[in-house]
Amino acid sequence: MTVKASERGTFSSKMGIILASAGSAVGLGNVWRFPTEVGNSGGAAFILIYIACVVLLGLPLMVAEFTVGRHTHANTVDAYRRLAPGTPWVAQGYLGVFTSWFILCYYSVVAGWTLKYLVASALAGPAGISGNTAYFESFTASPVEPIAYMVAVMAVCHVVIARGVEKGIERSSKLLMPLLLLIIAMLVVCSFSMPGSEAGLRFLLQPDFSCLTSDVVLSAMGQSFFSLSIAMGCLCTYASYFRDDARLMRTAVSVASIDTTVAVMSGFIIFPAVFSVADVEVSAGPGLVFITLPNVFRMAFASVPWLGWLFAMLFYMLLLLAALTSMMSIHEPTTAFLLEHFRWPRRVATRVVTLSCVAVGSLCSLSFGVLSGLRVGGLTLFELFDFISAKIFLPVGGLIIALFVGWRLPRRVVWEQATNGGTLRTRTFGLYMLLLRWVAPIAIVLIFCNELGLL
Ligand code: PFF
Repeated sequence: MTVKASERGTFSSKMGIILASAGSAVGLGNVWRFPTEVGNSGGAAFILIYIACVVLLGLPLMVAEFTVGRHTHANTVDAYRRLAPGTPWVAQGYLGVFTSWFILCYYSVVAGWTLKYLVASALAGPAGISGNTAYFESFTASPVEPIAYMVAVMAVCHVVIARGVEKGIERSSKLLMPLLLLIIAMLVVCSFSMPGSEAGLRFLLQPDFSCLTSDVVLSAMGQSFFSLSIAMGCLCTYASYFRDDARLMRTAVSVASIDTTVAVMSGFIIFPAVFSVADVEVSAGPGLVFITLPNVFRMAFASVPWLGWLFAMLFYMLLLLAALTSMMSIHEPTTAFLLEHFRWPRRVATRVVTLSCVAVGSLCSLSFGVLSGLRVGGLTLFELFDFISAKIFLPVGGLIIALFVGWRLPRRVVWEQATNGGTLRTRTFGLYMLLLRWVAPIAIVLIFCNELGLL
């Protein structure tokens, strides 16, 4: 079933388009995953490879997703169905919808943790929270508290999505994204002014190419996909709300620039702070922001505790806002699908997505505690969701998008979308097609094989 253009939402301004898409891209992946990867993979050298991946793979794939969404002005499933009727390509539409729903289930659990740490830091006062491993583990293992925090963040996301594209997503992105950028700027200044922060800056700015292995290159590619929200149906769905005069290539460049700047700035916030505290235990993964940083905040500002308190609250606020705008974008593909495909009212579609994610997300949360014994292939439920979505659905989806837009869509359609029907001059169209047809598919196959341990 199709929905008339007038019944669909539309982003009302170019700024709204950029901020909403950047809101999707900027998330836990930037503030939490990126610094961890940088820490594990040799600092500046990883950052350089990451930027190359964003330019050579991320950008063309983002424009490709925008192309599918804006050309059809439909939810992801109907977009592929319309572009390639009666063919198996529609599976990519279903994959996009399913992947976004699937990711929302466990992403919202971590978003709940950020709210808990914001509240805990605020309540702890200048003394700071005891951010050690036992505190983190007992919180995540508890059966009720993390679920309550997850539900609270999800409720905010629900309210935004239920209000629709312009009044909900666009308006909140216009408010939250500038706030997020302001918080980042304040935190960078704070972090740079700590004594001993130079060591962290050196780590981030002096590339050590001896750390570069094929593994590092491939994890930089994986990180760039996750961070730019590629292959999850989000960008395609958002682009279906773009106006016809939006410039796809320019929007993609703006979004990728904001996303990469935020990721690098997060490194600039975290590493100078961590390096300024010599004897702090640095842990990888979730431990970096939920275990290491609370200690850093307390110790680095031991002489001015209220500043440490402020730093901690601002940091978790940043993490929460980033998670929230990304959650909105992961919620929308399934909501748009239910709303347009089955003609459910937005209110009902939103409710179904929220409730189903809360139900499955609760199981993911419980997998840190009472359900920790429940394992599939040695992975807990949470780890399984992360593994399947980030390591399987994501590269598979990216590959299909590159092949579909690069090879299956008529070149004229791709050109019309890139140039707004020939009204824009684009000197990079040939390069874009080359990257999409050849470089992206080959690189994705390499990532995929590497992540499954086949290389
Ligand atoms: N790109 C966001 C991040 O870096 O955290 C997260 C994200 C958004 C993940 C959308 C998945 C997604 F579908």
